[in-house]
Amino acid sequence: MKLEGKKIGLAITGSFCTFSKMEEAVTALMAEGASIYPIISTNVQTTDSRFGDTTEFISHISDLTGNPPILKLEDAEPIGPQGYLDILLIAPCTGNTLAKLA
Ligand SMILES: Cc1cc2nc3c(=O)[nH]c(=O)nc-3n(C[C@H](O)[C@H](O)[C@H](O)COP(=O)(O)O)c2cc1C
Repeated sequence: MKLEGKKIGLAITGSFCTFSKMEEAVTALMAEGASIYPIISTNVQTTDSRFGDTTEFISHISDLTGNPPILKLEDAEPIGPQGYLDILLIAPCTGNTLAKLA
């Protein structure tokens, strides 16, 4: 699949133990030419765990992708009406978020 120039929204939910695998996938997508726009769930923003400090994680994912993360509902809402993303990737996707989709 050609991802050159594609804008991918990366919705990050609270499977903290799989963040490092997600980062590997993000790095591969960027190597294919995609731009990544992080969108971080409230639970990720408010939970420090043995897998790391959330403030450091948010800073790290901003640096990795080169884009500031979307952290607030009012900043996420325009994604639908404005249609500025080509793809929405939920990674990692918790059981909580998957259940809401279902
Ligand atoms: C350290 C830690 C690891 C977690 N790992 C997972 C996981 O692998 N899968 C999962 O479905 N939930 C996991 N959870 C629970 C979710 O974070 C929790 O259900 C949370 O409400 C998800 O919210 P979100 O989907 O809005 O991010 C974990 C929680 C913690 C604190």
